[in-house]
Amino acid sequence: MAVLLKLLLDLFSTALTDNLVSKVKVELAEQSYNIDIAANLLNSDSSRQLLPQSKQYAIISNQKVAELYLESVKKILPEQSSLTVCLIPDSETSKSPEQYLRLMDILLKENFNRSSTIIALGGGVVGDLAGFVAATLHRGCNLVQIPTSLLAQVDSSVGGKTAINHQTGKNLIGCFYQPKAVVIDPATLKTLDQRQFAAGMAEVIKYAFIQDDTFLQWLEDNAPAIKAFDMPILAEMISHCCKIKALVVSADEKETGQRVLLNFGHTFGHAIENVSGYGKWLHGEAVSVGMLMASKLAVDNQLMDEQYLKRLHSLLSYFDLPLSISTDFSSVELISLMYRDKKNLNQKLQLVLPRRPGLSELVVWRDESALISLLIEFGAGK
Ligand code: NAD
Ligand code: GLY
Repeated sequence: MAVLLKLLLDLFSTALTDNLVSKVKVELAEQSYNIDIAANLLNSDSSRQLLPQSKQYAIISNQKVAELYLESVKKILPEQSSLTVCLIPDSETSKSPEQYLRLMDILLKENFNRSSTIIALGGGVVGDLAGFVAATLHRGCNLVQIPTSLLAQVDSSVGGKTAINHQTGKNLIGCFYQPKAVVIDPATLKTLDQRQFAAGMAEVIKYAFIQDDTFLQWLEDNAPAIKAFDMPILAEMISHCCKIKALVVSADEKETGQRVLLNFGHTFGHAIENVSGYGKWLHGEAVSVGMLMASKLAVDNQLMDEQYLKRLHSLLSYFDLPLSISTDFSSVELISLMYRDKKNLNQKLQLVLPRRPGLSELVVWRDESALISLLIEFGAGK
């Protein structure tokens, strides 16, 4: 039986603003925190007051991002504090027990303690690993997320999911641990490569189906400005996504209810990433096809009006995201991986299916032959 999970997002009764600086609050009682979003925030003195006051700071980053932004972040640290910089290899494989222990060794030898602050400077890989280190160092020290990829700015830096990978699967060792602050400078996206930007747009487009259709309409209207890197529009887009995520996380921090709706397209997407071998398809690229598959299933089962599928398809296509897979993917293999998805309880396959923007269902899906036909329709082999 379908579990109907309706999101009540009344926040968007307020018009989208064109303010350059925006503050979004994640309401979680004593763990509440702000997300500050503004172009060039990392080069502004005002960002100093956004950080928790500590004697010791560590910045966890990778070489590429550090070369671009480490100096700016150093300048916003309090003058009397000490700084340890830890660089990790620029790869998903850095979310490993080995890197986790290496960072722990460095920080514990430097006498980091609960009042110290760890700053994650980078994309989701840095954020997830640094988050898990902060969560477990002396049972938890201060964490600040300074996300620099679009995916990290609209998704992974907000909400407190931290994790490393295990050889049996992604994100299997981790915990929920909220940052003290999230500082977002959309100007950092200027140095992100186009493919990574597009992959982040898949998560942005996902939010359009989680909120009512005002955001979908806004994205359609502003798509050319987004593609042209119009900074106020990018800042507004990121702020909007963070507001939606903040509302969902505030209502369901530990994903026992509506937070699962953020996984729209992800059950298909994770299987695509896995079959192709992690890294070949970016997460957002796999989610792009995954959202189309889930939406097609919803249309075929009279859950969603076809106009929303068409609008989803045109937005994903406008941002050059993949719309299908190839016969290199076996539908049988994809389905077996979907059953292994960690959201599935008692071997039942659960899928987030949209009804319309703002209303989705978590559905227990039993018809395997319909899934095989769907995957083949999207290009998979038998
Ligand atoms: P990533 O961290 O690998 O970053 C993508 C690439 O962009 C990297 O090469 C990185 O060095 C580079 N980069 C980042 N910022 C840059 C900038 N401003 N300029 C130039 N290059 C830059 O990948 P990602 O897509 O950011 O994150 C993916 C990870 O996030 C995965 O491990 C995934 O599991 C995780 N994730 C976590 C959550 C969560 O809620 N915690 C949600 C979604 C994804
Ligand atoms: N990225 C999904 C979540 O944070 O719940």
